[in-house]
Amino acid sequence: MKTMKYDKELLKDGKRIDGRGIDDLRDMEAKAGILKRADGSGYFRMGKTEAIAAVFGPRELHPQHKQKPQRGILQCRYNLTPFSVDDRKRPGPSRRGKEIGKVSEGALSSSIFLEEFPTATIDLYMEVISADAGTRCVALNAGSIALADAGVPMKGLISACAAGKIDDTPVLDLKGEEDMGGQVDLPIAMNADTGEITLLQMDGMTDIDEMDEMLELAMKGCEKVAEKQKEALMETF
Ligand code: CDP
Repeated sequence: MKTMKYDKELLKDGKRIDGRGIDDLRDMEAKAGILKRADGSGYFRMGKTEAIAAVFGPRELHPQHKQKPQRGILQCRYNLTPFSVDDRKRPGPSRRGKEIGKVSEGALSSSIFLEEFPTATIDLYMEVISADAGTRCVALNAGSIALADAGVPMKGLISACAAGKIDDTPVLDLKGEEDMGGQVDLPIAMNADTGEITLLQMDGMTDIDEMDEMLELAMKGCEKVAEKQKEALMETF
């Protein structure tokens, strides 16, 4: 459950600490094809949270006993780099990182035609290079660009962003201080073309009406993220 670590007022006269309104996303930047050695790659930034992603494959999965005869698999690694946070993070795998890798596999694989690649793996590496809340969303946004850049056949791009609650008010896309001082963080991922939600997590306490409001904010946010991802991919053609 979320605990208040900040005493500061996060919302005043409808404005947030960085001047945003309640339904404003942070400033976004997206790029495709940033890494020469990967089959596909992407970059995404929301405010001060940045991630790069690299895709390798589809390629034969080893060891063979892990292969699925009817379909390929997607393997995701999410990593918060040691230099991405204020206090240096201990390098190497963590429980949190493994969990985010797993939920990312679920969020992205439902959009990939994995049945076209029996016995294969698609490996996606998502590296958070700067963290100021929303890292799983930003990593997924970079990851989805990388999959599309690699030419992996997909039903649509997956776009992610979080809504939350600060000072008893639902808002879109929390930044670091809002995440620490806020009451709820609710990241989602969706296919913005179909409206299909592929990830929904929540930290904190809320009720069903507020949950609806946050979901609506987050879904609108994902639509804007999708536009940015598409612009980046168009630039590589
Ligand atoms: O990043 P996201 O919101 O997806 O996940 P979180 O676990 O709710 O983390 C919120 C924020 O806490 C991150 O974005 C980082 O800014 C920070 N954090 C950190 O400083 N050190 C960690 N080991 C984990 C998170």
